Amino acid sequence: MDRVNNILQNDKYKEYIKMNEFYEKDRIFCHHDMQHFLDVARIGYILSLEKNIKVKKDIVYAAALLHDIGRWKEYEDGTPHEAAGVELAKGLLEESNYTEEERNMVLKAIGNHRKKDNVPGTLSEILYKSDKLSRGCFQCEAKKQCNWSDEKKNLNIQY
Ligand SMILES: [Fe+2]
Ligand SMILES: [Fe+2]
Repeated sequence: MDRVNNILQNDKYKEYIKMNEFYEKDRIFCHHDMQHFLDVARIGYILSLEKNIKVKKDIVYAAALLHDIGRWKEYEDGTPHEAAGVELAKGLLEESNYTEEERNMVLKAIGNHRKKDNVPGTLSEILYKSDKLSRGCFQCEAKKQCNWSDEKKNLNIQY
């Protein structure tokens, strides 16, 4: 997991996390913080095992740790955060020793993480699903105001 920890220790990565925190300090809905990234990483890895999708653990974790890294940019100037995330993740992946092929796979999944219809068996599908499954709607105080439909909300524990 050395490459995952390279991301974690990267100063720019830490700065982006702080920027997300800054913009979400009064947010009543789900936050885009380290807890969320880890929940997505762990559920994503479980899904890859359950579905027998051959993708390295440190690639699933990279996608999860980076997928919402552009959220602050969306708050700041309206750039969709999946697009902002792709731009910010490029350099971080390179500096963390992911190969070009691996970087492209992770960037594609980040860019697709809000799209429902991803190709089955891909990292994009894993990331989309684990992102949604990670949210603890069953204990959320803003459940009533949230725009997620009841079908989308996790009203029971699945993972
Ligand atoms: Fe997102
Ligand atoms: Fe997310």
